[in-house]
Amino acid sequence: MKIFLDTANLDQIKEAAKMGMLDGVTTNPTLVSKEKMGFEILIKEICRIVPGPVSVECVSDKAESIVKEARQHARIADNVAVKIPICVEGLKATKVLSEEGIDVNTTLVFSASQALMAAKAGTRYVSPFVGRLDDISHQGMDLVEDVLTIFDNYGLNTEVIVASIRHPLHFVEAALMGADIATVPFAVLEKLAKHPLTDIGIERFLKDWEKVKGK
Ligand code: E4P
Repeated sequence: MKIFLDTANLDQIKEAAKMGMLDGVTTNPTLVSKEKMGFEILIKEICRIVPGPVSVECVSDKAESIVKEARQHARIADNVAVKIPICVEGLKATKVLSEEGIDVNTTLVFSASQALMAAKAGTRYVSPFVGRLDDISHQGMDLVEDVLTIFDNYGLNTEVIVASIRHPLHFVEAALMGADIATVPFAVLEKLAKHPLTDIGIERFLKDWEKVKGK
């Protein structure tokens, strides 16, 4: 499973790259709004650091304007994937952009029908939002399972990005289901490497090593 970082923060992106855990980045307007740099310069810098795709969201609401905005985003760097919220206008824009060879990440996906429509429109990625579904008492990961089954049924090669990940269990379940990509916030990425027994083990070994050094 590829790991994308769900952030627009350069320090976090650099840290994940050092860990060898950076296959791509997903941003959204909320994440970008937390950073101090101007939008284009920030995206350019992220694209320079990240070896894989960097999702950049479109905020226009009509197909024509989404296409225009997406083309502008795509000009920032070769590894930009444009993020388009699923809706009828977004599907029309996705068809045009995918035919032009621009990678689309269809975002804010909350149902299997939305994912299937996006795939048929030619999107490269779909992003089911699992945490936000859990928030309203729906099983977010069930959606991922359904989307993977449907894509498999029809041999669709659209990649599934498990998004809105809130904890390590989401990540593990995504991997067990065979999702293509998990996009994780930095705080979750750090938790993935941790285990209390590992911490206890390290502490015990360090204590015992002190005894060896004293000999
Ligand atoms: C994905 O592309 C989104 O940026 C993200 O996963 C949304 O997560 P949230 O529901 O925690 O805001």
